[in-house]
Amino acid sequence: MSDFVSGFWNIYVAGIVVLSLLFCLVLLLTQAKGKVNPGETTGHVWDEDLREYNNPLPGWWRWLFYITLIFAIAYLFMYPGFGTAVGSFGWSATGQYDKEMKAADEKFGPIFDKFKAQDVATVAASTEARDMGHRLFVTYCAQCHGADAKGGKGFPNLTDKDWLYGGEPEAIKATLVGGRMGVMPPMGAAVGGGDGVKDVANYVRSLSGLASDSIRAQRGKALFATNCAACHGPDAKGMTAMGAPNLTDEVWLYGSSEATISETITNGRVNQMPAFGEFLGEAKVHLLTAYVYGKSAAAK
Ligand code: HEC
Ligand code: HEC
Repeated sequence: MSDFVSGFWNIYVAGIVVLSLLFCLVLLLTQAKGKVNPGETTGHVWDEDLREYNNPLPGWWRWLFYITLIFAIAYLFMYPGFGTAVGSFGWSATGQYDKEMKAADEKFGPIFDKFKAQDVATVAASTEARDMGHRLFVTYCAQCHGADAKGGKGFPNLTDKDWLYGGEPEAIKATLVGGRMGVMPPMGAAVGGGDGVKDVANYVRSLSGLASDSIRAQRGKALFATNCAACHGPDAKGMTAMGAPNLTDEVWLYGSSEATISETITNGRVNQMPAFGEFLGEAKVHLLTAYVYGKSAAAK
């Protein structure tokens, strides 16, 4: 298969292949018939007494060269390499990948199926399942959540007891299967612009015991009740149905500074966890659910 949009490049590349092969052949034929005088030197001398003889190329060397050419032509006939020709073997990188995936499924399928039949808590307790889960996690999840699953700015820590969407096995599985989309709308205008944002940001900081301006926080409290409580809850402890985080604890998705909180309120946030249900299939999702569940359960 080729990724080129225009057919011209296929012909261009095929042309270069033909020219290169012809060039090698012509070079080999002409040089083989070149002037040689066995036994005579060319007159070149190195390192005082190292002389260059004008002998023909050794036969084995020339034949090796011919064989290389024949190999190249045979290879291009059998494998893709010549323009868009697929080759007589019909080999392709994606075909090989599919074949290997199928072989792996056949080999590991029974092990996955064994765990699929067990409930999440039981799977989480198995060392074998944890090792398999870890390998899957490093392959599919680590680029966002980190190899240790501790996350980073905008990517939740999966090893604590704080959940945007819930930490029950069913909730974790639903997150993996369908993905999640966290949407906090921009609220700057709703709270009355700059000062309103500052007031409510100070209130949010006061909720988790961070330093705040008490007068601003007092004003922010009223703004919070009318503008934010619908999603974050009247007690600001969050709402898993919305993916709205608990604002009263020490866990922050984006950061706890007044500037970062103000930024969140003013501009809103949109954050996405991709869906893995179809891509990974039921058995792997089950194993990963148990892996994440087990990580969090082990946390204090
Ligand atoms: C492209 C980045 C990305 C990848 C890859 C990714 N995630 Fe996520 N994940 C996120 C983001 C972002 C969120 C938070 C979504 C939000 O804020 O609404 C999230 C949320 C979650 C949550 C919910 C956490 C909570 O507090 O409720 C779980 C569980 C989770 N991911 C597990 C996984 C697992 C397991 C994998 C691997 C199969 C994975 N993620 C792969 C970006 C990613
Ligand atoms: C429509 C629902 C909704 C409303 C209304 C809403 N939020 Fe949010 N908020 C969310 C969601 C969902 C997130 C998580 C976004 C994400 O997953 O990236 C969030 C995230 C945040 C964060 C980031 C927390 C962290 O851990 O970094 C803060 C702070 C916040 N909201 C404060 C507020 C304040 C203050 C208001 C009122 C002015 C408000 N929110 C109104 C849904 C809402």
